[in-house]
Amino acid sequence: MLREPLLMLSRSARVKHLVTSMPVSKGVVSRYVPGESTEAAVDATRDLIGSGLHVSLDFLGEDTLDRAQADATVTAYTDLLRSLFQHGLSRNAEVSVKLSAVGQALPDAGEKVALDNARIIAQTARNAGTTVTLDMEDHTTTDSTLGILRELRKDFPETGAVLQSYLRRTEADCRDLAYEGSRVRLCKGAYNEPESVAFGDKHDVDKAYVRCLKVLMAGQGYPMVATHDPKLVAITDELGKAREKGSFEYQMLYGIRPLEQARLAAQGDTVRVYVPYGDQWYGYLMRRLAERPANLVFFLRALVSRR
Ligand code: FDA
Repeated sequence: MLREPLLMLSRSARVKHLVTSMPVSKGVVSRYVPGESTEAAVDATRDLIGSGLHVSLDFLGEDTLDRAQADATVTAYTDLLRSLFQHGLSRNAEVSVKLSAVGQALPDAGEKVALDNARIIAQTARNAGTTVTLDMEDHTTTDSTLGILRELRKDFPETGAVLQSYLRRTEADCRDLAYEGSRVRLCKGAYNEPESVAFGDKHDVDKAYVRCLKVLMAGQGYPMVATHDPKLVAITDELGKAREKGSFEYQMLYGIRPLEQARLAAQGDTVRVYVPYGDQWYGYLMRRLAERPANLVFFLRALVSRR
C-alpha cells in the first residue's frame, strides 16, 4: 500500500534534501549501503568473499543529465575494477552498471554515449578477469537497454542482462535471452510502473517470476536468480536439481537475508551479493524502503534522532 507513495516521494527534491543530510553511517542507510568510497566497497567485498560469497558492485547514481557526471561514473568503475584486481578480489566480484548513470538519459546521443561508456567498463572488467551486468531501470528504458546489451555482447558476450518479472513482456524476453552463454539476472522489478505494461498485483508478479524462471532454468544460458523470496528460492532449488552444479546462481542484496545467503552458500550454491556504494544512495534507499515499509519506522526514528 505504501509502495507507490514512497516511490513518488523519492522524486521530491525537498524530501531528498532532508533524507540525504543524514550521514550515511546512520540507521537504515548503512544496513543497505556499506559506504561511500572505493575503499569501503573493497573492504565489504573482501569480507563477503571471505565468507564464501560472490559480489556484484554498483557505484550508486542514476538518471544523469550531465556528461561530466557520466564520465566520472565510468572513472569510478574503472578505479574500482583495478582496485579489486590489485587486491585479488576480481575473480569473485563483478560490477553492475545502470546505463542511465553513464549517459543513456542525455538528450543528444545518450544511447551512443552510454554504449561507449559501457564498453570502457566492460573492457576494464575483462582486463581484471571479471564481468559487467547491465541493471534494468524503469520500463521506458527497457528497449534501449536491451539494444545496448545486444551491441555490447558482440564484443563482450559475457555481459549480463537483467529482466523484471513484473513487466508483461518479460516472459518473451526470457525466451529470447535463454541462449548459450547468456547471463540473465531475473528480478521482480523495483520501479513504479503503469498497469498497461506491468502486473499490479504482487501475486501476479510472483507467478510471472515462476514462469520466467522456468524458461531460464530450462534454457542454455546462465540464470542469476535475484530474489529474497523464500518460495522462489525453494522453487529454484527444485529446478536446479535438473541442472549441473554451478550452472546458475542466486543473487541477493547487501544487508537483506544474510543468513539465507550463508545457508545457500554452505549447501554448495553460488550466491552473489549486490553491493551498492557511493554517496548517491537516495534513489536506491527509497526503492528498498518501498519494498518493505516496516523499515520505514526504523528509518524515521534514525531521521528524528539526528537532531
Ligand atoms: P519480495 O519483495 O516479495 O521480498 C521477499 C522477502 O525478502 C520479504 O518478505 C523480506 O523477507 C525480504 N525483503 C525483500 N526486500 C527487503 C528489504 N528491502 N528489506 C528487508 N527485507 C526485504 N530491480 C530492478 O528493477 N532492476 C535491477 O536491475 C535490479 N537488480 C537487482 C539485483 C539483485 C541482486 C536483487 C536481489 C534485486 C534486484 N532488483 C532489481 C530489485 C528487485 O527487483 C526487487 O525489488 C527486490 O529484490 C525485492 O523483491 P524480492 O524478490 O526480494 O521479493
